[in-house]
Amino acid sequence: MSNDKLNKTYFIATYGCQMNEEDSEKLSGMLKRFGYTRTEERDTADIIIFNTCCVRENAENKVFGNLGAIKKLKEKNPNLIIAICGCMMQQIGMADKVLKTFPFVDIIFGTHNAYKFPEYLTRVQTEGVQIKEILDKETEIVEGIPIDRESSVKAFVTIMYGCNNFCTYCIVPYVRGRERSRKSEDIINEIKDLVSKGYKEITILGQNVNSYGKGLEEDINFAKLLRKINEVEGLERLRFMTSHPKDLTEEVIYAIRDCDKICEQIHLPVQSGSDRLLKVMNRHYDRERYLYLIDLIKKEIPDVTITTDIIVGFPGETEEDFQDTLDLVDKVKYDSAFMFIYSRRNNTPADKMENQIPDDIKHERFNRLVDLVNKNIAISNKNYEGTVQEVLVEGVSKNDESKLSGRTRNGKLVNFEGSMDSIGKLVNVEINRAQPFSLVGKQID
Ligand code: SAH
Ligand code: SF4
Ligand code: F3S
Repeated sequence: MSNDKLNKTYFIATYGCQMNEEDSEKLSGMLKRFGYTRTEERDTADIIIFNTCCVRENAENKVFGNLGAIKKLKEKNPNLIIAICGCMMQQIGMADKVLKTFPFVDIIFGTHNAYKFPEYLTRVQTEGVQIKEILDKETEIVEGIPIDRESSVKAFVTIMYGCNNFCTYCIVPYVRGRERSRKSEDIINEIKDLVSKGYKEITILGQNVNSYGKGLEEDINFAKLLRKINEVEGLERLRFMTSHPKDLTEEVIYAIRDCDKICEQIHLPVQSGSDRLLKVMNRHYDRERYLYLIDLIKKEIPDVTITTDIIVGFPGETEEDFQDTLDLVDKVKYDSAFMFIYSRRNNTPADKMENQIPDDIKHERFNRLVDLVNKNIAISNKNYEGTVQEVLVEGVSKNDESKLSGRTRNGKLVNFEGSMDSIGKLVNVEINRAQPFSLVGKQID
């Protein structure tokens, strides 16, 4: 390996969730170690990588659209190397479909062999071959890959890979493989290293963090891991994603309550408020259990914010089922919600269900849900006016460069007037105004 500058650049487009973000940071880390420089200018890059997502149809359509646009770049510059990887490539038959339409692609690989990218790249450069390698099964976790992180203030650390839940609408278990946890020692060492480099906030990641630890030899579970990470000196804030309600235990809620570094925020995807649909979705909890957890969280963790994911238009969803979702949403009063129109995914059980919902009904329900969620968010944000909040300053505000931007402990986005040397620090901000999706304020110290 060498650190010599090659004067060559790479561009990475990342679609989908934090899992892909992390893989892209690893691809970037490996390329930097080989002397490449990252660029945001796609059209002049020497290497273009698409890290794809297939969780919904529109994620795939974006990739196809962008690949079409790349064709003329390759015609102009035959030395350009184009690589496609990620979840979409992991679907059976997809790599061949892509190669048929876009034969100029140089490298295709899946989610289980991203660590082999440097090897593929060298082979393309030295042998001039086209590479397609998709492993159909997960490998052992590969530790120690360099990670080129997007932010220098907050970092994501994956604690487990894959998913065993097979919710009937979801493609993730098919493209990310079975659940496997990293050893707690590897996780703690990575976090200690990040803290020593100045990172203040860590978000630990997994498709279902509550089942962390299964299959490991050590005596550990998610609550114990949280308590262990909370001991890392110098760490200011700890967040986690995603919690599956079926595996969220009281023990985890008490760990959040007890540990000073764990932020008062929990993302608890409900998907639907209808017991009947939750069953068909294979979620393994009902609304009573979900609402019990919400009550306990609110009771034990003051100032907690609760966020969720909801799917509208799952096969067979009746107006009554949908009303159950609206009713639950109004009871919980989420601080934010990712809302999705159900999208048919190849080879998933829900795709084969006969009672698919027509598009117009899906859209009409979606709009009603968005209105209700947004109304509640606006009410919740109003409560912050006049309060003082601890904000971790992440950088200048995206919409107004004279302002700074960061988040409260419980995850609210704040744009505020403050001193530019506060970036990367924790400051107190007085909130003057609540906007629909953010708070506006002024730094007081
Ligand atoms: N592991 C996480 C979420 C992973 S996918 C969890 O279980 O909560 C993120 C979200 O995408 C899901 O929570 C779900 O709301 C949504 N989603 C997944 N498959 C979908 C599909 N086929 N159509 C619409 N939304 C979907
Ligand atoms: Fe998909 Fe369900 Fe796994 Fe989440 S828990 S990734 S929704 S199968
Ligand atoms: Fe998409 Fe793969 Fe994540 S399908 S949502 S990038 S795990």
